[in-house]
Formats: sequence, C-alpha cells, structure tokens
Amino acid sequence: YGEEEHSQDYLFKIVLIGDSAVGKSNLLARFARDEFYPNSKSTIGVEFQAQKIFIDGKEIKVQIWDTAGQERFRAVTSAYYRGAVGALVVYDISRRQTYDSIGRWLSELHTHSDMNVITILVGNKSDLHDTREVGIDEGKSLAEAEGMFFMETSALNSSNVSSAFETIVKEIY
Ligand code: GTP
Ligand code: MG
Repeated sequence: YGEEEHSQDYLFKIVLIGDSAVGKSNLLARFARDEFYPNSKSTIGVEFQAQKIFIDGKEIKVQIWDTAGQERFRAVTSAYYRGAVGALVVYDISRRQTYDSIGRWLSELHTHSDMNVITILVGNKSDLHDTREVGIDEGKSLAEAEGMFFMETSALNSSNVSSAFETIVKEIY
C-alpha cells in the first residue's frame, strides 16, 4: 500500500443516547481521553469529540456526539441524529427505569435517522454488582429482539468501553 492508502480519512458520526445519568458522557470521556468524573454534571446542549479508531490497521476517524438525557437540556433532536451511522443506546444496570426507557430511545432514533443505523445496546455501570437491577440476560434478549449488538460496560473501571465503540465502527466499516 502507498502512503495515500494509509492517510485516507473516514468520518463516521456516532451518537450516544439514553436517560440522564446512565453514564453517556463518562463513556465518551473514558474512551476519548481515558478520564472518569465521579461527580459529573448533566450535559447541556451537545458535545462532540473526534476520535481515531484503528480497524485492521486502518485509521478510521469517528465523531462521537453526546447530549443530555433530560429533555430540557437536549440539543435540537433532528440535528443531533442527522447523518448518524451508529448509535450507542445506553442504560444503567443499577436502575431498571433506564432499561425500560430503551424502547422510547429506539423509536426516537428510528424517527430521525436512517433505518440502517448500526446500534449497540450498552448496559453501563457493570461495576455496581451489589445494586444491579437489570440482569445481563435481559440486556441480551432485548438487544436480540431489536437486532442490536450488546455489551455491559463500566466507564469507572474501563471494562468493555473501547470494545463497545469498536464493535460499532467495525460493523459500519
Ligand atoms: P446526562 O448528561 O444528564 O444525560 O447524563 P450522562 O448519561 O451523560 O451521565 P454521566 O456520564 O454524567 O454520569 C452520571 C453519573 O454516573 C456520574 O456521577 C458518573 O460518575 C456516574 N457513572 C458514569 N459511568 C459510571 C460507571 O460505569 N460506574 C459507576 N459506578 N458510575 C458511573
Ligand atoms: Mg452527559
């Protein structure tokens, strides 16, 4: 391969969605900067982060978008989803209510984006064993029913964080 082959740029937009405080911003902070904020505040508006991912030796540039789970802090919905080719749909394994919201997030996603968008269901906070409210089997079966990938992650201890983002990029690419 020549130089041009190596320097080729691919730009994919990936969005993070899910209820407030499930850990969307911390998943992004862990993935992009290897940081974690024990007392992070709700996101206001929209934030995004460009990140390079290497798949089969190829550099793939992705742009990851993050907005608030709470309606009143959210970015303009249609603009947020526009052009997205992948989505991480996140719940908190220690709060069943956030798992029950997944259907609502998926219908919003499918209203505003291409039907072919690649989705991964992410059960975050897998470090919280003692307060778990949603079983791993429940995550798996919901993902299977909705045609999504599935992974439990922890932004706190880094478990599966890179894998979740890489799974989606591999599939898009
Ligand atoms: P909004 O911006 O309001 O939609 O919330 P968010 O989904 O971005 O949640 P955020 O990343 O701000 O995290 C909310 C809280 O959960 C913070 O106190 C984080 O420190 C905590 N948190 C995030 N990920 C994890 C995790 O994997 N494990 C544990 N134990 N706590 C986490
Ligand atoms: Mg946030």
